[in-house]
Amino acid sequence: MRGGARLAGEVDVAGAKNSVLKLMAAALLAEGATTLSAVPDILDVAIMSEVLRRLGCTVQRVGGTLRIDVPARPGHEADYDLVRRMRASIAVLGPLVARCGEAKVALPGGDAIGSRGLDMHVAGLVKLGATVESEHGYLIARAPRLTGAQVWLDFPSVGATENLLMAAVLAKGTTQIDNAAREPEIVDLCDLLVQMGAQIGGIGTSTLEVEGVEHLRPVAEHATVPDRIVAGTWAIAAALTRGDVLVSNGRAEHLEIALDKLTTAGAAVSTEPGGGFRVRMDRRPRAVDVVTLPYPGFPTDLQPMVLALNAVADGTAMVTENVFEARWMFVNELSRLGADVRTDGHHAVVRGRAQLSGAPVTAHDIRAGAALVLAGLVADGVTEVAEVHHVDRGYERFVPKLQSLGADVRREAAPEEPPLALG
Ligand code: EPZ
Repeated sequence: MRGGARLAGEVDVAGAKNSVLKLMAAALLAEGATTLSAVPDILDVAIMSEVLRRLGCTVQRVGGTLRIDVPARPGHEADYDLVRRMRASIAVLGPLVARCGEAKVALPGGDAIGSRGLDMHVAGLVKLGATVESEHGYLIARAPRLTGAQVWLDFPSVGATENLLMAAVLAKGTTQIDNAAREPEIVDLCDLLVQMGAQIGGIGTSTLEVEGVEHLRPVAEHATVPDRIVAGTWAIAAALTRGDVLVSNGRAEHLEIALDKLTTAGAAVSTEPGGGFRVRMDRRPRAVDVVTLPYPGFPTDLQPMVLALNAVADGTAMVTENVFEARWMFVNELSRLGADVRTDGHHAVVRGRAQLSGAPVTAHDIRAGAALVLAGLVADGVTEVAEVHHVDRGYERFVPKLQSLGADVRREAAPEEPPLALG
């Protein structure tokens, strides 16, 4: 891309990646066909579809609709190579042990943003009466029938809350999950489970009460909640480029603190009568301090974008990362564009520069990749972002949407890697 354009116009967001992947896993809890709509056209959905197929499901996609047909006896072993490729596949653990009495799922391991432990998933399943072993790179959980219990999470982990929720809905008796995550994606999952016949109290709060039932039923249709992280990315893109963007179906109520930060930075943020919200920036952004926290705090997935915003802001900002200990890898790449960022433990100090300068950089994960593209839009000259397949994992039609807002950006085929000289 070539920097300089002000983004202007209207853009919409598809359903949330971090919800739909769990909704797909939840379909395993009932025999028959569950249909999801507003499904984003992203790589991760294709990978999760393959995980489900290898468990014996039929998965058909028509436009933004996905029909998942679950057999009476699905498999219980989630494919090693697929789980390794996409951490979110771990979300089949809870449904499989609840539905099949056994689950064998590859350990996903860490990634570019942190160690990504599973101890709370495991401890919670053990509390519900499962035996859990780790063997040959797999997590193996067994329980003829799970039994309701009180589970306290040390941290409001999204993944652990989801897995334990999907385990508890078919357990015998009552489960209480304390210090549960409250993200809108968790609420969306609860809504689907209730549609399937589950009994869940405290939805949207940090205490979830689940009354287990014998069986669940498939659902004719469930619309995925819009993606607040993608919506937030467009909001920050508008502020960063001093643009004017309407995110037509973005949910402002899911982004309160992020939009409030943009207002502090000098943007005009308004919700639209027909739905969605608009962000307009007529001046150089002011530097804003940010602290990432579980919902409703500032989302860690927008941290790289707000770092990029502060890199060209007027003033110095402190950005604190409390969710993923290693989410600073992106800083090295941003520094290649001339940003002045110093990190120390959980903190990054960003001294805003009037101008960044274009350079070749590399994406190491979904959000870092998107943020590097945004930074390239305000850098002098040409920026090339390599490994953009990361961005495809979470952003539907990112480049065409940027172009529709006036960005000078295009996608180029990755240069062929010279063949490896062996021996
Ligand atoms: C989900 O990851 C999202 N991924 C992440 O989005 C998001 O950043 C994260 O929630 C926080 O909002 C998906 O939904 C697929 P956690 P998850 O369990 O479930 C530690 C993106 O870019 N932890 O809330 O893995 C963990 O290491 C991705 O879309 C344990 O130590 O997040 C982390 O530091 C990136 N032990 C923290 O808790 C556990 O058993 C939060 O993790 C579980 C978690």
